[in-house]
Amino acid sequence: MPDLDILLCLPDDDTASWIDELVRALPAARVRPWRPGDRAAADYALVWRPPGEALAGRRRLKAVFNLGAGVDAVLALLAAQPDLLPPHVPLIKLDDAGMAPQMVQYVLAAVLRHLRRFPEYAALQRARRWQPLPGRDAGTHTVGVMGLGALGTPVATALAQLGFAVRGWSRSPRAVGQVACFAGQDALTDFLDGLDVLVNLLPLTAQTTGILDRTLFARLAPGAQLINIGRGAHLVEEDLLQALASGQLAQATLDVFRQEPLPPDHPFWEHPRIEVTPHVAALTLRRESARQIAARIARLERGLPVDGVVDRTSGY
Ligand code: GLV
Repeated sequence: MPDLDILLCLPDDDTASWIDELVRALPAARVRPWRPGDRAAADYALVWRPPGEALAGRRRLKAVFNLGAGVDAVLALLAAQPDLLPPHVPLIKLDDAGMAPQMVQYVLAAVLRHLRRFPEYAALQRARRWQPLPGRDAGTHTVGVMGLGALGTPVATALAQLGFAVRGWSRSPRAVGQVACFAGQDALTDFLDGLDVLVNLLPLTAQTTGILDRTLFARLAPGAQLINIGRGAHLVEEDLLQALASGQLAQATLDVFRQEPLPPDHPFWEHPRIEVTPHVAALTLRRESARQIAARIARLERGLPVDGVVDRTSGY
């Protein structure tokens, strides 16, 4: 694929490692990092949380690749400045590209820790108390996964394979073996009813912002566990603190936050029943991602359809 100009727009300083992998995957293309003031032509832009300026006026652009699974930041930019990306230029997200196994590990670790009461035993250990607690059985421990896309589906499947009773919820109907699937707003209450664990892997859209709130928590089994690996804005933080205080929720494992990095004075840091991880549940793997992007560029150059094209109306 000679004569392709690829623009890489990342906010942080890991541009060099991306360039290495992109050059390896696209040896004939010219890959350059975007710098403010760069107005030169580009065929493809690879972006993560880009400023509008990076996309403005790029008439030769054939597609924009989002260097992550969640496209909320790019879509928020396009909502404010729709001219940045005409409708015929596809926005393409990474799907899986090595993220799914990491999500599976993260969720299994969190669910199993809770099932086997590790956080409670940690508290007992600190108090030097030898106190066996009642056991729990995976088969009667019901886990619900919100979002059955490229990440939610393998997570739900792995939980089912471990013997958990698993439910899944998505906007449009899905079939995932061994998982009881629910679809649409009307089925949300039935999906939530009495869940012992809720895993959020939804995309962030206008419909899902603030979905993890007190009304939702009230439908779960008392003492339920929340795992949020979607976006911080899915969660109403005050409602979580209240639900933990009342015992409606026993434990929360959070990887994403309204404000990242989580501010030093945030109450989540010191909460005994909140586990905080710094947005690491699934890191974007450079090599896998570069390969996926290169394969898709090759197809686009031949006029073929590609996976991962974002539906800008549904928001994912
Ligand atoms: C990370 O949060 C991603 O969307 O890939």
